[in-house]
Amino acid sequence: MSRTMILLLLLLRGLTAGHPPPAATPRLKLTFPELRARHGLRLFSLERSCCYEALLLDEERGRLFAGAQNHLLSLALDDINQRNRKIYWPAPVEWREECNWAGKDITTECMNFVKILHPYNRTHLYACGTGAFHPVCAFVEAGQHAEEPIFKLDPRHTEDGKGKSPYDPRHTAASVLVGEELYSGVATDLMGRDFTIFRSLGRRPSIRTEQHDSRWLNEPKFVAVFWVPESEDPDDDKIYFFFRETAVERQQGLGKTSFARIGQICRNDMGGQRSLVNKWTTFLKARLVCAVPGPDGADTHFNELRDVFLLQTRDKRNPLVYAIFSTSSSVFQGSAVCVYTMADIRRAFLGPFAHKEGPNYQWVSYQGRVPYPRPGMCPSKTFGTFGSTKDFPDEVIQFARHHPLMYNPVLPHGQRPLFLQAAVPYTFTRIAVDRVTAADGHYDVLFIGTDVGTVLKVVSVPKESWHHMEPLLLEELQVFQDASPITSLQLSSKRHQLYAGSTTALAQLPLHRCGAYGKACAECCLARDPYCAWDGTTCTRYVPNTKRRFRRQDVRNGDPNVLCSEDPRRGSVPQKQLYGVEGSTAFLECVPKSLQARVLWTYQRTLDDPQREVQMDERVVRMERGVLLRSVQRADAGLYLCHATEHGFTQPLLRLSLEVISAWQAAGMAPAGDPQLTAGAPGRKVWYQDFLQLVERPPLGATDKVCQRLRSRGRPPPPPRTHAGPPGRGQGEEPRKARRRRTHEGPRAERGPRSASPW
Ligand SMILES: *[C@@H]1O[C@H](CO)[C@@H](O)[C@H](O)[C@H]1NC(C)=O
Repeated sequence: MSRTMILLLLLLRGLTAGHPPPAATPRLKLTFPELRARHGLRLFSLERSCCYEALLLDEERGRLFAGAQNHLLSLALDDINQRNRKIYWPAPVEWREECNWAGKDITTECMNFVKILHPYNRTHLYACGTGAFHPVCAFVEAGQHAEEPIFKLDPRHTEDGKGKSPYDPRHTAASVLVGEELYSGVATDLMGRDFTIFRSLGRRPSIRTEQHDSRWLNEPKFVAVFWVPESEDPDDDKIYFFFRETAVERQQGLGKTSFARIGQICRNDMGGQRSLVNKWTTFLKARLVCAVPGPDGADTHFNELRDVFLLQTRDKRNPLVYAIFSTSSSVFQGSAVCVYTMADIRRAFLGPFAHKEGPNYQWVSYQGRVPYPRPGMCPSKTFGTFGSTKDFPDEVIQFARHHPLMYNPVLPHGQRPLFLQAAVPYTFTRIAVDRVTAADGHYDVLFIGTDVGTVLKVVSVPKESWHHMEPLLLEELQVFQDASPITSLQLSSKRHQLYAGSTTALAQLPLHRCGAYGKACAECCLARDPYCAWDGTTCTRYVPNTKRRFRRQDVRNGDPNVLCSEDPRRGSVPQKQLYGVEGSTAFLECVPKSLQARVLWTYQRTLDDPQREVQMDERVVRMERGVLLRSVQRADAGLYLCHATEHGFTQPLLRLSLEVISAWQAAGMAPAGDPQLTAGAPGRKVWYQDFLQLVERPPLGATDKVCQRLRSRGRPPPPPRTHAGPPGRGQGEEPRKARRRRTHEGPRAERGPRSASPW
C-alpha cells in the first residue's frame, strides 16, 4: 500500500473515530484590514532594517526588547508604537569587507543580525548577533525600572560571540541564560558544520559537546533551550535542549531522516578529570515522537521540530512542554502540536540506553551493567556522595561518552498530537501558550504562528473526560499583510497581548476579540473562547473572580440552550425583502459569523404554511455566501429562513421574503431602444439588476430614490413600501399585507400580467 493510501485510510479512520478532521476550519477568520481597523492590531517596523527574530518580553520594565538587522529595540508593551527606543548596532566595516571577500552578499548577509537577547542582571541585557559572519555579543544597559529611559550599548565593550550566535543569518541559535551563564546550541564555525552545546560566560570554564562524534550531535538544528529544576536542591538542576538532527539510529539505505530530540545536561557539570575534559559528562538525548498512530504501526510522523514553548505550572519542576512539528515527507504536508510532560521526559532518561551491537551492527537496547553513578545523574546529595563530575569514576565517563542516546523515545501526552493541520497551504512556525482561568476550569490557549503570516488560536477542551482533549480552532488571524513567515512569538498574560515578529515587521494584537463572535448570547456561548463571556448584553472579556449578575460562560459544553435562555433577543430574527425577476437569478445571501456553522435553509410559501427544508439541485445552488436561485420562477416566491447549526445547536439567522416580478414587466419599465435592457440573458448586466441591488438592502429613505428613478423612466411609481417604518415588526408585516392583497385577487388574476404586478 502506498504511503498516500495509508495516510488517507488513516485520516478517514481518524474521522470515523471522532477525531478532529485533518484540515480544521477556523471558527472565525479575520483579515489584516479587519484586524487593523477594528481589533487593535498594531505594527512596528524600522526603515532600512528587517528580521525581527529575537524577542524578549519584560513585564517588570513593561518593555518588549527586540533584536533586528543592525538594531536593538526597546518598545512599550502596552503600545509598541509609543515611547520606543533603538540602538544602532552595525558590524564594523572591516568585518563586512571580510565577509564580502568570503563570497557573502554585502547587503543581505554581511550585516549584524541580532539573534540572541537575554535578561542578564537587574540592569543589563545580553545580546548577540551575527556581526557579518563574525559573531559578536554585548551587554546592553536597560535600567532597573519601567520609568528609567535607559537603553544603551557601549560598542567598545563587545565580546566574541563564537559558540553563542550563529555566523549565518539563515541559521538559528537557541540559548538560555541562567545565573550569568549562557547555555547555547549553535554552529561554531563559518561553514556551519561544527555544532555544539556550549556553556560560556560566567566564571566557570567553558564546556562543550564532544567534537566530530555523530552519536552526540549529527547536523543538529537547535530550536529551544530551557532550565528546569528537578528537586529543591539546585545541584539537581538540568538544562534541556530541543533540536532536530539527522537520525543516527536509522538503518542504512533508508536515506536521511530527521528526528526531533530532547537533550539534557546538568547545570553543575564541570566536565571529566582525565577524559571528557571540558566536555559534558551528563549529556543524554532522547527522541521526541509526535505521530498519529496508524493501523499496523503505520504511524504518520511529524519529525521536523519547529518550536517549543514551556508552559510554567504551579510546580516549577513540572512545566508542560508544547512543541510544534511539521512533516519532512514530500508526499504528506502537515503540522502538529504535541504536548509532553516532564515525568515522561525524565522516564525516558531513566530508561535503557541505546547501544550499537550484533551482526548487523544495529541500535538495540543496552542490556549490560550500567556503571554507578548512572550517567545523566547530576552529582548532588540527592543521589550519592559525588561532589563534582570530575570525581566520577572513569568507567562512568567512558560509558557516558559512548552512550549519549536513550533507547526509548518520549511519547506525547495522550499518545497523539493535540492539534494537527494537514492539507493546508501553510506550516506552523512558532507557538506561545497562555493558561487561562475560565468559569469552569483552566484552559490552555495556543497561539500558533505560520509561515504565511497568520496566527491560529486554538483551545483544547475535554471531550468526555479531562484525558480526552479536543482542540477547537477559534481564530485564524492575518497578522502580517505580506504573508511573511512568523519568526518569533511572545505573549503577555498580564497585558492580554500577543507579539509577533517576521522578516518585515513586529505586530501587537490583543489575545481576544469577544465582540467579533457576534451580538447574541448563543454566538458568544458557541464560540467557547475561555477569554470571553456573555454579560447579559454583549460578548465581552471574562474576568475571573468578579461578581456579576449576568455572566454566562461554559467552555466545556458551550450549550446555548442552558446558558442563553434569558437572552432578551432570543427569537428575534433580522428580516430582509428581496425581489427576483422571473427567469433571472436571485441570490439569497446569509453568512453565519462562525465558519464552522452549517447553514440550513427552510422555505414556506406563507407564514401559515409549514416550513420545509430547501432542496438543492441544478437550479437551486448552495454557494459559499448563500443560495443561488437560477432562472427564478413564480413558485419561488415566499419566505426563506436561514439557520446556522453548530455544536448541536440551531439558531435562525435571517428571514428573507422573496417576491417575484415577471421579466417583461421589469424590462418594460426600461426606456425603449436600449438593447441592454430587453433580455434577461444570464450574466448580462441589465438595469434592473442595479435596481435590485438597491432594494435588496434598503437603507432608510432609499426607497424614495428608487421611486424617483422609476418615475423618471416614465412609469407609474410603485406603491410606497414601508422600509422606512419601524424595524423588525414593521418589515415583517409588510409581505403579509402584500400577500393578502394578492390572494384577494384570486389565482387567475395572480397569473395575469397586470394584476400580478406588484406595482
Ligand atoms: C550587570 O552586569 C553588567 C555587565 O557585567 C555590570 O556592568 C553591572 O554592574 C551589573 N549590574 C548589577 C546590578 O549587578
